[in-house]
Amino acid sequence: MSHRATGSRLRRLVPAMAGMAAAALLSGAAAPAAAQPSFWGDYRDSWLSTQRRVDDLMSRMSLQDKLGQMVQITRGAAGPTEVASHRIGSVLSGGGSSPSPNTPEAWADMYDGYQRSALDTPLGIPILYGVDAVHGHNNVRGATIFPHNIGLGATRNPELVRRIGAATAEEVAATGVDWTFSPCLCVARDDRWGRTYESFGETPELASSMTSEIRGYQGAVLGGDPTSIMATAKHYVGDGGTTGGTDQGNTQLSEQELRRIHLPPFREAVERGVGSVMVSYSSWNGDKLHAHDYLINDVLKGELGFDGIVLSDYNAVHQLDGNDNTLTASEVRVAVNAGLDMIMLSKDHGKFLDHLRREVESGRVPMRRIDDATRRILTKKFELGLFERPFAQRELLSTVGSQEHRQLARQAVRESQVLLKNEGVLPLSSGTDKLFVAGSNADDIGNQSGGWTISWQGSSGDITEGTTILEGIRQLSDSSVTYNRHGDGINSSYDAAVAVVGEKPYAEYQGDRPNGLALSQEDLNTIDKLRSSGVPVIVVLASGRPMDIASEVGNWDALLASWLPGTQGGGVADVLFGEYNPTGELPMTWMRSFDQQPINTGDDKDPLYPYGYGLSYRE
Ligand code: GLC
Repeated sequence: MSHRATGSRLRRLVPAMAGMAAAALLSGAAAPAAAQPSFWGDYRDSWLSTQRRVDDLMSRMSLQDKLGQMVQITRGAAGPTEVASHRIGSVLSGGGSSPSPNTPEAWADMYDGYQRSALDTPLGIPILYGVDAVHGHNNVRGATIFPHNIGLGATRNPELVRRIGAATAEEVAATGVDWTFSPCLCVARDDRWGRTYESFGETPELASSMTSEIRGYQGAVLGGDPTSIMATAKHYVGDGGTTGGTDQGNTQLSEQELRRIHLPPFREAVERGVGSVMVSYSSWNGDKLHAHDYLINDVLKGELGFDGIVLSDYNAVHQLDGNDNTLTASEVRVAVNAGLDMIMLSKDHGKFLDHLRREVESGRVPMRRIDDATRRILTKKFELGLFERPFAQRELLSTVGSQEHRQLARQAVRESQVLLKNEGVLPLSSGTDKLFVAGSNADDIGNQSGGWTISWQGSSGDITEGTTILEGIRQLSDSSVTYNRHGDGINSSYDAAVAVVGEKPYAEYQGDRPNGLALSQEDLNTIDKLRSSGVPVIVVLASGRPMDIASEVGNWDALLASWLPGTQGGGVADVLFGEYNPTGELPMTWMRSFDQQPINTGDDKDPLYPYGYGLSYRE
């Protein structure tokens, strides 16, 4: 707080100080510095209703103050001083945008630095800080990494997913962050899509059931307790239905089909009180969602009654006129008038503010639209308690990567495993079986975690703390376990061979596979080498989606779909050794051949394994 109060602040401070004095006398204790009951009932008065606090604060805000609230800027584009000087309302870390060192404490310091600058402005409006905590606080090294959504869909356990949301919220709140861009409620209809693993599955019912994660993140009421963070239902609407599974592509459906398949999870999310909705990059029948007045204003805000923040995707407004590199006044006007309340930017925030100011001054964007957006943003800031608790909840730092959270993650891994084939070779005997383990994904924490882990795309290798699937097998096996990535050394003396294969990490459009979903030649060679020994071969598939394996699976003695389990690979071993009897059910129809794509339950196509399929050991 600057030591010299300007005239306007003095006028505001005097009543507040009188109020503080009165409150302190009444309570017998010094009120907290950030916000306290004030005798004169201004927006800092935590005893007033949110509505009255918003009304009072807005009455004090200039047009520039309001426009600034509508900007969410990446941390790489604006430091605390720049954010405060432009009165910017929110900051985000894009995938992998971490402080250095990448530790929970450094995240908390970074967050508090932005917050202190924001509070030191005349009106002292705190920022919202957002991240993609989509399977744990996954940018932070050492955080618990849970299975990606496709595996959580296989659990068919909404309560487990709620608990995962709550655990994630603790780790996120510990670092100060107030907002996660999760859950993704996309209904993935084409396995060629690079974001299939971010989906809970191919049916609206499955995605709708997993909106329980919103309750985990936010708690029963947004801001009801210190670990509450704001959730985001994304990407509105129909991103999982793009033609050919092209990311950021075109969803060609009748309105009836769009409403039947893709809208229900958002309706459920709104009913659960989700604080924000992120709009999809994609188009519906050729019209960009970020310009869609009908779907945002009429359907989302009107018909569904969504009263939270409608957030753009990352530089998505730049795309509206077809040229991604420029931000025009027309693009700004169209997006804001279509109902976007906050615009996510990694650049051009000054240009955005200039364009929007001129559009308002010209009347092309009505002031009531700006007031509506500002009101929505401030309402969530007050509900989250940011004026009362603006800084990181450092007492929660011990929860980051805690044993309790890792145990929860291991249970989620167990329940997400789907047993697709078993010729009597599973469960393994931890006591006697002499095992050989091979495969590109057997001993790689990065591969088994997938995209959105430490970095945007994720990466192979020892990228964070956890247990690989091989380590999990070794921990449970009393006999010797031999490992060789390519199967070198396998012979008939072994009781069984486990090949852990699948996909390397990717995110978004970098995961689009329009030309095929076969296993890599490396993995196929490894499996063949294991088979040549005559030893039973168990294939564990660590991938973000069903893969094209029909021509191979007949030669395998067992197949376990592991999805992208995250840091607790021990959960996979639990199923292999029968510590947990597999209960997972397919969240996606499994193709018999790649040219069946897209293939979904209810189609008149013949899958290799149907939606909902899954074996257990005790039939
Ligand atoms: C990305 C994704 C979105 C994510 C956002 C911020 O492009 O589409 O899911 O929340 O940018 O990282």
